[in-house]
Amino acid sequence: MSNTNLIADAPRSATRSRNRRTAAIGEFMDRAWQRGLLHQTVTHRDPDGRSVEVGGHEVLNFGSCSTLGLETHEAVVAGVLDATRRFGTQYSSSRVYSSVSLYAELEGLLAAMFGKPVVVAASTTLGHCAALPAVVGDHDAVLVDMQAHASMQMAVGLLRARGVTATVIRHNDMAALQSKLAELAATHDKVWYVADGLYSMYGDYAPLDRLEELLEAHPSFHLYIDDAHGMSWTGANGTGYVRSQIEHHDRMILAVSLNKAFAAGGGALVFPNQELAELVRTCGSTSIFSGPIPPPMLGAACAAARLHLAGALRERQHRLAELIAHTNRRLAAAGLPQAVATDSPVFFVPVGEVEACLNLVERMKDDGFLLNSAGFPATPRRRSGVRFVVNANLREEDLDRMVARLAHHYEPALQAAGSDSAAVARAFGIPEFTVATDLQFSAPGREDAA
Ligand SMILES: Cc1ncc(COP(=O)(O)O)c(C=O)c1O
Repeated sequence: MSNTNLIADAPRSATRSRNRRTAAIGEFMDRAWQRGLLHQTVTHRDPDGRSVEVGGHEVLNFGSCSTLGLETHEAVVAGVLDATRRFGTQYSSSRVYSSVSLYAELEGLLAAMFGKPVVVAASTTLGHCAALPAVVGDHDAVLVDMQAHASMQMAVGLLRARGVTATVIRHNDMAALQSKLAELAATHDKVWYVADGLYSMYGDYAPLDRLEELLEAHPSFHLYIDDAHGMSWTGANGTGYVRSQIEHHDRMILAVSLNKAFAAGGGALVFPNQELAELVRTCGSTSIFSGPIPPPMLGAACAAARLHLAGALRERQHRLAELIAHTNRRLAAAGLPQAVATDSPVFFVPVGEVEACLNLVERMKDDGFLLNSAGFPATPRRRSGVRFVVNANLREEDLDRMVARLAHHYEPALQAAGSDSAAVARAFGIPEFTVATDLQFSAPGREDAA
C-alpha cells in the first residue's frame, strides 16, 4: 500500500522545504503519505457506518469524529433535503448583508441548548479568528496551553501580531497558570487562558474544577475554551464535556464544533452575555469577511440541534459510553498503554518514533482497521502514536478484534523501527509495560465486566 507513484508527480515535498518548521512537519507527513496512511480516499461508506472502502479495501472505521453516528440519522438527512429545496445549495453573500432564516433558527436552537447567547461561525477555526481578536483588548494578556488546538494557536498569532502579550504554558500546568496569572494581572486589564476542553490527540481533559476555582478567585481571569471534540456525546442536551463539568461562568467563552459529533458543518461560540455575542457578530473579522455555512449544512445542524434538545440522543450516548468503557477494559487487558485513560471517545496508544507508528498503523490497515497515525505537529516530536475514536456505530466485537490485532502488532512494529516498549515508556514518562501477544477475547466480552 503506497503512494510512491504519486510522489513522482508531487509538486514539492515538504521535506525539501527551506522552512524548518515545514521540514519538521514533512518528516511525519511525507513519510505517512508515501505509505498511503494520510490523505486517504474513501470510495464507499457502509450503510451501517462501521466500515469504509479505502483503496478498494474494506476497513472498520476508527477514524470518524462523528461519535454518535448522526450523519445518517433520518431527521438530519431530511433537514439537508428540506433546506436545499428551500434555499438551494448555497446562499452566496456575507452574513453582514443577508443570510437565510436557518441561521437565526440555528442560533436560537443552540441558545436554547446552552441557555446562553450563541453566534454560529462557518467553522470552529473561523470562529476563533472572529472571537479572540474581537474580545481580547490591547491591554490584556493571553496564556495559551501548549497543546491547545492549532486553530486557537493561529488566532493567538493574530493577537501577537497586534502586540498583545501571549505566553505559552505547559500542558494543564495549573501551578504555572496560577503564578503567571498573578504576575500578569498586576500589569494587564484581563488575563485570558486559552485551552481545549477535550484535547483532540491524547484525549485528555482540561482540569475544569481548577479553572472554575480560578474564575471564582480572580476577577481578571477569563477563560476561552474549545470543546470541539467534547460536543454531543455528553452533557445536558449534549452540550459537551466542558458544560458537563462546570456552569457557564460570566467570564467564559466556549467554542464548539458542528463538524464532528453534531454531524453538520460549522462552529458555534457560546457567550456569557448578549453584549459580547454582538461584539463578535458585528466586529469579528471572519464574521464580516468569510462566507456563510451553505443551507444544506444549516438544515442538518438545525435538525441535529432539535434532536439534542428533545433528548433523542440518550440511547446513542449510552451505547457509546458502554463501548468506551469496553475499549478501556480491553486495552488494559492487552497491556497496551494509553497516553491518558479517560471516559472520552478519543484514544491514544503511545508509540514514540514516527517509523514505528507508521509500521503499526499500516499493519492494522492491512488487517482491515482504519486508525489514525498521529505525529508532529499534532503531537510533540518523538511522541507519536496511534489515535483512534470510538463511535456508536461500532460493535463490541469490532473493538475486541481491533485491540487484539493492535496488541499482536505492537512490539513487532516497534522492533522493525529499532525501538521497544521501554523506549516508549521513557518517551512518554509512563510506567514500563508488557503487551500481551496472540490475545483472543471471548465473545462478547462479559468476562471482565464484573
Ligand atoms: C479542538 C479543536 N478545535 C478546532 C478544530 C477545527 O475545527 P473546524 O474544522 O470546525 O475548524 C478541531 C479539529 O479537529 C479541534 O480538534
